[in-house]
Amino acid sequence: MDKVTLGPMPYMSVMPSVLVGTTLKGRANYMTAGAATVACMAPPMVCVAINKARYTAKAIEENKTFSLNFPSVGQVAGTDYCGIVSGAQEDKSKIWTSFYGRLKTAPMAEECPVNLECSLFKAVDCGSHLLHIGEVVEVYADKACMTDKKPDVSKVHPIVYAQAMYFDLGKPLEKAFSAGKRYVKK
Ligand SMILES: Cc1cc2nc3c(=O)[nH]c(=O)nc-3n(C[C@H](O)[C@H](O)[C@H](O)COP(=O)(O)O)c2cc1C
Repeated sequence: MDKVTLGPMPYMSVMPSVLVGTTLKGRANYMTAGAATVACMAPPMVCVAINKARYTAKAIEENKTFSLNFPSVGQVAGTDYCGIVSGAQEDKSKIWTSFYGRLKTAPMAEECPVNLECSLFKAVDCGSHLLHIGEVVEVYADKACMTDKKPDVSKVHPIVYAQAMYFDLGKPLEKAFSAGKRYVKK
């Protein structure tokens, strides 16, 4: 074994780039987040870790709703902007065209090919960050990004975040739930 120790940190090799849509004082706001993933399959839940000091954390506390929006590689500048400017200082509501579902306070960005409308299930206090777990009440997807009635990642073209850089998704490697079948036991 030839390893170095790096100290404790929440290392993830790659993360998504999502925009967390919220409403505070009647105004839509979008915040960039990398710390987002699936929390549960049934019921369908996602989670996103948000620093307690963020405008977005206050907005979720106010309405108990949020959205996760998946921007495409062509939307890097707007996505990054939402991660370097706070809604507390600037109105970010016009960066994306907002649309709303039945929750009314979870604005979603029309320009992003996939949007999840979420109702807050629980906010877990982890220290600096609150892990916001949201039940997905609806998924919206651009018709142009669909293949066989499912969002097609090659059409969605999501932004991958790693090492403080944005990446394009690489080439498909092999089928999941299938590659393991040719594994030879040691
Ligand atoms: C690529 C990227 C990923 C980020 N991921 C997170 C995250 O997962 N959680 C978080 O609290 N802040 C994250 N941030 C920082 C917030 O997006 C940033 O502080 C933003 O200005 C907060 O917006 P708000 O004050 O309008 O809520 C990230 C920023 C960037 C650029």
